[in-house]
Amino acid sequence: KPPKVYSDPDYLVEYKGCKVNYPFYLNLDQLDTFEPRSTDVCVAAFPKTGTTWLSAIVYMLANDGDPQSILTGAPLKFKVPYLEMTIPYGDELDQEMMALDHLKKQDGVRTYVTHLSAKATPQRVMNEAKIVYIYRNPKDTIVSMYYFMRASMWFGFHGTMEQLVDDVTRDHCMNGPFFEHLESFWKLRNRSNVFITSYEELMKEPRGIIKKLSMFLGKNMTEAQLEETLHYSNFSQMKENPLTNMAEFESIGIINPKVARFFRTGQVGNWKKHFTPEMNAKVDAWIAKNLAERPDLAGLKF
Ligand code: A3P
Repeated sequence: KPPKVYSDPDYLVEYKGCKVNYPFYLNLDQLDTFEPRSTDVCVAAFPKTGTTWLSAIVYMLANDGDPQSILTGAPLKFKVPYLEMTIPYGDELDQEMMALDHLKKQDGVRTYVTHLSAKATPQRVMNEAKIVYIYRNPKDTIVSMYYFMRASMWFGFHGTMEQLVDDVTRDHCMNGPFFEHLESFWKLRNRSNVFITSYEELMKEPRGIIKKLSMFLGKNMTEAQLEETLHYSNFSQMKENPLTNMAEFESIGIINPKVARFFRTGQVGNWKKHFTPEMNAKVDAWIAKNLAERPDLAGLKF
């Protein structure tokens, strides 16, 4: 049977209120076997909101800002693997193992990531691990998602940006609904094991956020260690670093760099170059509706 693709009506499967890509949905029953530890750090994010960026920062902080932690060894995907996904391995990267199995064997501080909403993430992880969540303006998220879905053969997506705007605003998109995802974490922001930032905030004030995050993680970092973390998690550094720039997926044809690199623009407001006035009006109406319907999100502006 050919693998399911985005245009198949049953490609997205609802799991505890979160619409999951079919291939990842198949892995979810294994999540209950996962034993979180209080020393674990779980990065959580809706897709295309800065997950990889924050994963690199968290991994460097967990390793006391040591540049070698990110410049040597395995690709970031292995160092901060997705709970709900498999990781490729072997010389040809043609074999796959559940990230969970890889994590189970690890000692010390474990760092992992999930695109699941807070309700769909195993509750033991939500309660026992440290949770670091990032969110992003939905307009830039949609543009980033469009290029990623076009470039990546995972989705078999050949639609237009207009179609994706339609899909996201009718809450039919991976890990959606977008605002359900955001609200599920935002509600927990005062918990002592939850840290929340945004792509825009991290862009504006990376040093300050990295420092706050280091304190949240219980790290007593020197200025020099913070500086290294800041430097190596910078967009251009991560784009050039073969261990963080997803080059391994490009080299095996999973991501077509001619359509879009994983490290595309790394900007705030890139949507202005892509949205027509109609698309913008549609997204604005959807944002306004969701903010009005979700009082827990009061105070957030997009
Ligand atoms: P763009 O497509 O807008 O460039 P995710 O990791 O959640 O899939 O998000 C990918 C988005 O984060 C892409 O956005 C990518 O360029 C951006 N990104 C990745 N690393 C970054 C960094 N170090 N600084 C700024 N943006 C980064």
